[in-house]
Amino acid sequence: MSATPIISILNGPNLNMLGTRQPELYGRESLADIEALCRGHAAALGLGVEFRQSNHEGDLVTWIQDCRGRAAGIVINAGAYTHTSVAILDALLAAEVPAVEVHLSNIHQRDSFRHHSYVAKAARGMICGFGSHGYVLALDALARLIKGSSQT
Ligand code: DQA
Repeated sequence: MSATPIISILNGPNLNMLGTRQPELYGRESLADIEALCRGHAAALGLGVEFRQSNHEGDLVTWIQDCRGRAAGIVINAGAYTHTSVAILDALLAAEVPAVEVHLSNIHQRDSFRHHSYVAKAARGMICGFGSHGYVLALDALARLIKGSSQT
């Protein structure tokens, strides 16, 4: 039996504040609630999950690097670093692991500085505006990609 593919779910700055942070934008679920949602859905898809959050750009860079040759996919909500971080973009390009970008809010309906994403340049796709369900959709997308690549 082959090993369970691991999906690394990475969350950036201020996402530890979910539940109380601007609930009108980000909803009332905590990050722990989203982690539980992801673990349950990943298990149903036959995937394992690592779920991490940091307020520090370098932590995210190190975790992305650590996915290379090990993780089957990355789900990343880089928070505000989405719009600023060339370092996270470079780490994603170097990791060579399929990544799906997620945002709880619809960043294209918000401030113009949120319309640009460095992460998007390295991601297979982006899901935004569906709240926590975006993480579920990202896992579905990666499951399909992984299944497709193992059939070739
Ligand atoms: C966010 C959108 C970003 O613009 C913002 O800085 C966040 C959260 C989202 O999930 O909607 O921290 O990534």
